[in-house]
Amino acid sequence: MERVDKVAILVGPKGRGSNMGALIRATREGLVPAEIGVVIGPAVTSPALSVAEALGTTIAIVQPDEEYGKNLLSALKGCQWICLAGFLRILPEEVLRAFPKRVLNIHPSLLPKFGGKGMYGRRVHEAVLAAGEHESGCSVHYVTEVYDEGEVVLQSTCPVLAGDTAETLAARVLEREHQTYPAALAKVINARRS
Ligand code: GRF
Repeated sequence: MERVDKVAILVGPKGRGSNMGALIRATREGLVPAEIGVVIGPAVTSPALSVAEALGTTIAIVQPDEEYGKNLLSALKGCQWICLAGFLRILPEEVLRAFPKRVLNIHPSLLPKFGGKGMYGRRVHEAVLAAGEHESGCSVHYVTEVYDEGEVVLQSTCPVLAGDTAETLAARVLEREHQTYPAALAKVINARRS
């Protein structure tokens, strides 16, 4: 029987987990040819972990201490792909080495614009509005040791409207994110199979 690829989702301490939820649903609906193996967060208090548990997904807690890389690798056993979803750290080098071109992240702007260290959450949308952009969107990219710099896999655009605030723009971009992340994951998995 053909082996089904397994995906680990890494969430941050405060993330809501909406992209994580979109990925879980997309695998269950067959839109992504893979299963979610585990959702990994840094603390029991991570809201996204509660959402993952409520959705019936296996969770693991890996604290970012001095053994972080080693412990992450052991929690990632059996998974071939990693999706970062609201995860704000640079991954330990040993994890990046063990998953070459197999780690994805989603960023709420059209990279390379408005990315880099410290560019997350409402700061991204505020910067887009301050720059007077007429278009924004999201990018799914491969993860490297530099924030938001890996090759882009898929982008989706949406308009910036007159009167937009960081919140209204974030909400419009987030809708795109929930479509784009599963589509990008399906794209890279299918490319590896063909
Ligand atoms: C999203 O805007 C994503 O682009 C960024 O972090 C946010 C996570 O939101 N990387 P959620 O936890 O998926 O709702």
